Amino acid sequence: MKSGYIVKTAILGLIMSAAVSSQSVFAADGEKLYTEKLCMTCHGTEGKEPIMPLYPKVNGQSKEYTAAQIKMIKDGTRAGGLTAAMKAMVATLTDEEIEAISEYLSAIE
Ligand code: HEC
Repeated sequence: MKSGYIVKTAILGLIMSAAVSSQSVFAADGEKLYTEKLCMTCHGTEGKEPIMPLYPKVNGQSKEYTAAQIKMIKDGTRAGGLTAAMKAMVATLTDEEIEAISEYLSAIE
């Protein structure tokens, strides 16, 4: 059936364009990642309201400092203290995601 083929092709096209666009948004959107990767559950809204006084605020630092801390906690260079709470949360982040989240946090006053 020709019409069935056209419908299937159209649906496939929609799925593919949705996948491509959501991927590019995902790669660049630090704000979305901050929520999706559950950072906010400990560091609070916009990194400003940590859930306990012993947890750091993470907004307003330079992007370079923030990205470096996340990478060092991820690879174990920065260990001890309360890093255990954080390490598992950043284990699966890519460098690109770390950069995007750090850029987002650094821009929040
Ligand atoms: C389970 C709670 C928890 C989650 C979830 C969490 N963190 Fe953390 N994070 C911490 C704690 C606790 C520390 C302080 C570690 C220490 O004592 O050295 C920390 C430290 C940091 C630091 C270093 C701050 C500084 O001033 O040195 C940054 C940046 C950071 N977290 C970002 C993130 C990001 C981004 C995410 C999400 C991908 C995230 N955290 C998820 C608990 C968490």
